[in-house]
Amino acid sequence: MKAFPSIEDLREHARRNVPKMFFDYAEAGSYSQETLRANRSDMERIKLRQRVLIDVDKRSTATTILGEPAPLPLALGPIGLGGMMHGDGEILACRAAQAAGIPYTLSTMSINSIEDVAEAVDKPFWFQLYVMRDRGFMRELIQRAAAARCSALMLTVDLQILGQRHCDVRNGLTVPPDIKIRNVIDIMTKPAWALSILKGKRKTFGNLAGPVQGMENVGSLAQWTASQFDPSLSWKDLDWIRSEWPGKLILKGILDVEDARIAVKSGASAISVSNHGGRQLDGAPSAISALPRVVDEVGSDIEVMFDSGVRTGADIMRALALGARSCIVGRSYIYGLGASGQAGVARAIEILHKELDVTMALCGVRSIGEIDKRVLADTDERRNARG
Ligand code: GLV
Repeated sequence: MKAFPSIEDLREHARRNVPKMFFDYAEAGSYSQETLRANRSDMERIKLRQRVLIDVDKRSTATTILGEPAPLPLALGPIGLGGMMHGDGEILACRAAQAAGIPYTLSTMSINSIEDVAEAVDKPFWFQLYVMRDRGFMRELIQRAAAARCSALMLTVDLQILGQRHCDVRNGLTVPPDIKIRNVIDIMTKPAWALSILKGKRKTFGNLAGPVQGMENVGSLAQWTASQFDPSLSWKDLDWIRSEWPGKLILKGILDVEDARIAVKSGASAISVSNHGGRQLDGAPSAISALPRVVDEVGSDIEVMFDSGVRTGADIMRALALGARSCIVGRSYIYGLGASGQAGVARAIEILHKELDVTMALCGVRSIGEIDKRVLADTDERRNARG
């Protein structure tokens, strides 16, 4: 396996391996990508406090996520079209996560189906749900997740309507994904990718094939989501979801304090503070800047997770310092998948784990439980923010 010292190296390899149309889909933010950029720039502005001459010989990154032990505070999040980064991509990513002992979340919009993944792995995984207009189909999906022994349901609450990613329009990304003449030359220069896709179980959305009407050539992703996803979804529907799924429920996509309060009352087990990786409301604040207020408001009532902009172990440290209990990554591991399949995802997890461990040591911290605001540097910016 090639040396991949950082997530950025995995990204660069994925960019070379994967056809532009699919790499761009994973990479993009919505509209002007302001929020996408803010996720990273605000993250990098948070400075960590260097501590010295503290015995950090014995350290542990171990923690619990939704009550289950995990060797580090990290879960792999749901990625639409993951199986277009590499054939059988969802199975491979789930295997890598399970080998590392961390949760994996299968997207509703995955290529491998719930059943494909369940058959190919040993342990339970999480399933992410998008709510569509056809509630009968929703019930079926939830039942399929339960039958596959999924251990948590992650409801994405910030995508009732798709924020446009301009590159998907330019690249002609359709549902089902369809290789156009204009993409053929690109694909011919990516033979390893093409072979992996040919060998993969499926070439289109595994969870949706068949029962969802209009899957035949419905045009753009935006048109398809507009016709299928339910824009009337509201907090009232959560009672229905709770009655269909009595197990652990994570609400992903909470950015606002008011919404966080309602989420607690809804009986969810956890929330993820998120702006969907900058892919939905462009102009929304960065997720990391929203995190402290949400934690102040509900951190003692519900497990607060964090996603949107985590690319390094130092970022995990920053989110934990601001009160998150764990982080969810998307692009960081999908780059690994595109770069080198299961080994690439395993490498992405290993990179984040090692970086977190070293960051903890250099901050003089030995355990996850010790991480709080005291690991942040007392910069002028922090003093100003406190007023
Ligand atoms: C789907 O979740 C997307 O962000 O495209």
